[in-house]
Amino acid sequence: MAKSKTKIAYLCSACGDDFAKWNGQCPSCKEWGTLSEFKVSTKKSGRRYEPRETKSLTDVLTSDSGIRISTGLKEADRVFGGGLLSGSLILLGGSPGVGKSTLALQICSGINRKALYISAEESEEQVALRAQRLKVKPENLFLSGENELDGIIAHIERIKPELVVIDSIQTVMNSGLDSLPGSPSQIRDCGQRLLEVSKQKNVSILIVGHVTKDGAIAGPKMLEHMVDTVLYMEGDDRYDHRILRAAKNRFGATHEVGIFTMDGNGLHEVANPSEMFLAERSVEIAGTSIFPSLEGTRPILVEVQALVSNANYGTPQRNVNGFDVKRLGMLIAVLEKRIGLAMGTKDVFVNLVGGLRVDDPAADLSILCSIASSTMDKTMGENIVLLGEVGLAGEVRSINRLEQRLVEAATLGFKKAVVPIASVNEKVKNINIELYPVKFVKDAFKVLF
Ligand SMILES: Nc1ncnc2c1ncn2[C@@H]1O[C@H](COP(=O)(O)OP(=O)(O)OP(=O)(O)O)[C@@H](O)[C@H]1O
Ligand SMILES: [Mg+2]
Repeated sequence: MAKSKTKIAYLCSACGDDFAKWNGQCPSCKEWGTLSEFKVSTKKSGRRYEPRETKSLTDVLTSDSGIRISTGLKEADRVFGGGLLSGSLILLGGSPGVGKSTLALQICSGINRKALYISAEESEEQVALRAQRLKVKPENLFLSGENELDGIIAHIERIKPELVVIDSIQTVMNSGLDSLPGSPSQIRDCGQRLLEVSKQKNVSILIVGHVTKDGAIAGPKMLEHMVDTVLYMEGDDRYDHRILRAAKNRFGATHEVGIFTMDGNGLHEVANPSEMFLAERSVEIAGTSIFPSLEGTRPILVEVQALVSNANYGTPQRNVNGFDVKRLGMLIAVLEKRIGLAMGTKDVFVNLVGGLRVDDPAADLSILCSIASSTMDKTMGENIVLLGEVGLAGEVRSINRLEQRLVEAATLGFKKAVVPIASVNEKVKNINIELYPVKFVKDAFKVLF
């Protein structure tokens, strides 16, 4: 009989890492006062060690494992890296109600193969109601409300599905451990066992995970290391579109995004997201510009809006939606020091329209020029896109994949592009868009204002 023992460990609520010793400051993420105590069971699982065989690469390549299965949703296939890879372990996170279960259920239906949906969070009837609303094909889909890990593995062995959805990992438990479902030791153990099952039985497993208030998947960071693919579903109550983003992908490009709209019938793919994001574009107003962003391998045109007004209180406000606030501060400093626009007594608000979040430095020029445009109350003209990373010396630095971005802009009817001089090459010159190569921000200003 295995002995049950527990020891104490400390979990950081900010980054999810755990430590053997308590510290005032988290050694990983350097946040203060975030470590709290939790019990770790050291009980031996009693499982027997089974050595695995070795295989030659030729055998592996000729076997039928590692095939890509289409999910029936092109946008989801793109994020997976060209379809769901058999035998892969995927973690899907997202805020409450964003549509994680909806997406998982639609994928189960779309693959047209045997799928098992384990919903420890909702009853089979509740899942069935959703399935009915989403018009899910019922033939190949099996439902279970099981929340005990051994029971789930037994179902997988019996039904032999090609895809298993665990909704959610926080509600699944190994009753051999002393801790509660959702605790770090439970999540770690269940994640590890599911990883073994997916690799040994060559079944894809999609694990749904809750997120903390900071937006990270709740539980130990180790879970994200363990899985092949980490996906986040993002969305805003104010918009009906949802963005599926790959934060990690062992079998495809990271930061790839899939864009959907969501309604009562579920998620629908958006074939041309740039058109959707530019639908309500305000061309005649100072402070707006268009930036061809690159999300994974796909360019998406985004409208940047800036509003600059006189600050009524002591410290001027710097507010931004969809961009790094510290980088915004840097751009304002460049504007003040290199261009000579006084920003010290101005409130600055920047918004990337449509709820898109961009960490691409190529957005710098567009954001900076939008702020300047609003400050000076001068428009920048229609049909122009702006691209370039801005350096502290006020220089416009080169960016990646300029060609792809400009092709998208040209396709949507844009006629002019302000681009970094260092990124211009022969291929770029052949695109049907008039180029304004610039070396410094002040050169861009000569073109625009
Ligand atoms: N009848 C309906 N008509 C339109 N939209 C609906 C309907 N029912 C649910 N929805 C939408 O679906 C969303 C819930 O989707 P879903 O249950 O897939 O989210 P979830 O991310 O799994 O949530 P949770 O974190 O609670 O599990 C709701 O927020 C709502 O926007
Ligand atoms: Mg759900």
